[in-house]
Amino acid sequence: AQNERESLFITLNYAKDHFVSNLWESEEGRNIGLTYFKERSFSEETIKTFELGYALDQWQGLMDASAKKGYNETYLARAGLKIVKEDKAYDRFRGRVTFPIHNVSGKVIAFGARTLKSNEKGPKYLNSPETELYTKSKILYGIFQAKNEIRNQANCYLVEGYTDVISLYQGGIKNVVASSGTSLTEDQIKLIKRYTENVTVLFDGDKAGIKASMRGIDMMLSGGLNVKAVRFPEGEDPDSYSKQLGGTAFKAYLDENSLDFISFKTELYITGTNDPIKRAEAIREIVHSISLIPDPIKRTVYVQQCSNKLGIEEGTLISELNKLLIKES
Ligand code: CTP
Ligand code: MN
Ligand code: MN
Ligand code: MN
Ligand code: MN
Repeated sequence: AQNERESLFITLNYAKDHFVSNLWESEEGRNIGLTYFKERSFSEETIKTFELGYALDQWQGLMDASAKKGYNETYLARAGLKIVKEDKAYDRFRGRVTFPIHNVSGKVIAFGARTLKSNEKGPKYLNSPETELYTKSKILYGIFQAKNEIRNQANCYLVEGYTDVISLYQGGIKNVVASSGTSLTEDQIKLIKRYTENVTVLFDGDKAGIKASMRGIDMMLSGGLNVKAVRFPEGEDPDSYSKQLGGTAFKAYLDENSLDFISFKTELYITGTNDPIKRAEAIREIVHSISLIPDPIKRTVYVQQCSNKLGIEEGTLISELNKLLIKES
């Protein structure tokens, strides 16, 4: 089984090299793929760091190239690179730019692949299926490139997308990983905890992003992490906004707008409302989040903060909190 895994790793690494060489060396790859990345302001260095590539718009580009090199075809299918349907077999990734997904030690385990067509009928991003090596819920995109810097900075920026990771990294914010658009999982939280206890959530400035932030914050609090979050203007994500502001102003934006989870939730729920019912709901929601924190000392500190911020007596908050804690134990 160890040999089988090794063969899968070798196959995925070959596919990555193949896509990289398409990008830099083929006419189609340069004209379409490389041009696309450059239009998104990714530098050559960045493209190389993340091993971005291009899958030719052919049914069997990778299959044919790997057969010529003598690779066993069954591994292509098991690695999620080849689709076998009835009597047909063809490449999964065609006519898309490729983003290899690395495990913690830097080996390629899967790919995300973005369409370049504005009229694409399929998904914007097509991803590898789950395989023997790749379980989506256990990995964070960018963790290999980010892990040392997460430790050094004692903080991890969590974004939604591949291109958010890449843009921030290029702008000098290297302690960044992506949940890749799925809701955060326990395993991903454990993965972050190997490197730091501090997370700053930078999700997209749309309804979906805010909803995902709220849920992600609660999960990370339960996991014992210290959580901050930054909100972006409607329609912006960390990639687009960092490009709009430029690197220096974007960093300043992050520093000025990183809110601890209480302030973040408070701002979202009650900024601009005096509606007492909304205030009450917001308080209940925040107390619920506090109740998820495993450390009683941290809970106490947050209760004090919530009390100051919302002008509610600590005693009231504590008795509400205790009700929740009893219910949960
Ligand atoms: N995603 C996915 N499949 C899709 C759409 C999204 O896997 N059909 C994942 C990708 O990891 C993507 C992330 O969810 O990076 C965030 O989605 P979205 O915000 O829509 O994409 P962006 O990363 O902003 O992509 P781009 O800027 O290239 O449009
Ligand atoms: Mn989004
Ligand atoms: Mn984007
Ligand atoms: Mn986005
Ligand atoms: Mn909740």
